Amino acid sequence: MTSAQWTPGEAAAKDPHDRPERPWWQGAVFYQIYPRSFLDTDGDGVGDLDGVRRRLPYLAQLGVDAIWLSPFYRSPMADFGYDVADHCDVDPLFGDVDIARELVREAHEHGLRVVVDYVPNHTSDEHAWFVDARSSRTAAHRDWYVWVDGDPATPPNPWMSAFTGGPAWTWDAGTEQWYLHLFLPEQPDLDWHNRDVVDAMHDVMRFWLDLGVDGFRIDVAFLIGKDVPLGPAASKPEPSAYTHELMRGFRKLVDSYPRERVTVGEIYIMSTRAVASFYGDNDELHLNFNFPPLYAPFEAAAWRQRIDEVVDDLDPVGAWPVWVLSNHDNPRHRTRYGGSEDKARAAALVLLGVRGTPFLYQGEELGLCDAVVPPALRVDPGGRDGCRAPLPWEAGAAHGWATDDPWLPWPPDADHVHAAAQEADAASFLHLYRAAIAARRRSPALRHGAFRWLESPPGVLAWERAADGDRAVVVVNMTQAEVRFPGSYELIVASAASQGGWQGALGPWSAAWLAPR
Ligand code: NOJ
Repeated sequence: MTSAQWTPGEAAAKDPHDRPERPWWQGAVFYQIYPRSFLDTDGDGVGDLDGVRRRLPYLAQLGVDAIWLSPFYRSPMADFGYDVADHCDVDPLFGDVDIARELVREAHEHGLRVVVDYVPNHTSDEHAWFVDARSSRTAAHRDWYVWVDGDPATPPNPWMSAFTGGPAWTWDAGTEQWYLHLFLPEQPDLDWHNRDVVDAMHDVMRFWLDLGVDGFRIDVAFLIGKDVPLGPAASKPEPSAYTHELMRGFRKLVDSYPRERVTVGEIYIMSTRAVASFYGDNDELHLNFNFPPLYAPFEAAAWRQRIDEVVDDLDPVGAWPVWVLSNHDNPRHRTRYGGSEDKARAAALVLLGVRGTPFLYQGEELGLCDAVVPPALRVDPGGRDGCRAPLPWEAGAAHGWATDDPWLPWPPDADHVHAAAQEADAASFLHLYRAAIAARRRSPALRHGAFRWLESPPGVLAWERAADGDRAVVVVNMTQAEVRFPGSYELIVASAASQGGWQGALGPWSAAWLAPR
């Protein structure tokens, strides 16, 4: 079976309630893999694509429907792969293109779709396009990037680079112009107003779609078509009408492929209304990250507001929401919630119980906290090392990796917090995630049902999901006291391992999914 012939996988087929007219990505649970930190099979201390292949059975058993792979392309790793030097090649650290193709094929055999990262806003300064662009003002690729004349002492506008704290502009002494980089100086921004850039980057999409991937997570999607105003006035880049036109171009291209593929935009704007605009008139991106909930504390008022924003701003325009609590750019949610095991377990039932498509970040199913990385071992200019700690798979110094000396230190307590220990412990995070994902798969209400708030005591959130005659109630106690929640219910899943059945009460910082009797 070649991946091009592959049709809806085992995972989707397992749900008898799945309607053929509903896109697979609406009922799916996604799992983000940060390949550097997943599993190293060759002993260089950096995870690799063979490591992902080896754990496909683990992922299938977890019950997720799709994986998103952070970049594994050729890269000098100034931003650990988000500085791409060749979009159509795999960095030797991770494997090669044949291994990537094999990974996609095997994932499909396990019923897992594969979404890859697509990094359109910038390239590496070692990309052949930029090497040429920088070589002279008349080089063929010069105007594939953003160059501006000026005074070497005064950057063309006050935009700041995301990680350096300095200007988003670097003076190129060789050709005596400034070039733009919203991120590191090693990540020059492409100029998407240049048609050749659009064509070349569309070809990159075609390369991976032809190889069999099921879609793209699009890095910095919201800024690629930005206008670049010069002078002191502009404080930061803004999405433009042209950016939306580019999104429509991506959508058209991806939708022209057989099998349903998906685009997921990284919209790093703290406004759910702004996120809504990237769905267009159902002609821009299929899904978009909505980050305000990721930054919300574990408090009822904060979550009620974040959920209301989604209900008010996304649902009415037919935009299917994305929910995410952790990723490779932010402290893990358990760490943000003060390390609380109870809160992190309850949060799993929130993430998987709201209406929309949840994205898990590798290791959250083990309840991992961020590693505490001593200054001498820090490597990321953006300060994100903690959440990128390598996944501990088993006991022993190497935790299942091919070396005991990975690129970053292990997360806290890795001696006993690892996948093998949790496999053996029915009360573990891993078993909670498996049970919740399996219950979600069985319930049309939880997968794609309508949402409605229910009355609840202060500090407690309760909502109902309903579809096709199926109903489920999610109740979350965001207080440190036990609370009663009256009504006639049967327990579907509880976040507290000690909660055997439903007696009408929830312990501190806990959640339950209930079936109305
Ligand atoms: C967002 C990515 O998630 C992050 O890791 C990266 O550093 C920036 N975009 C730049 O590509």
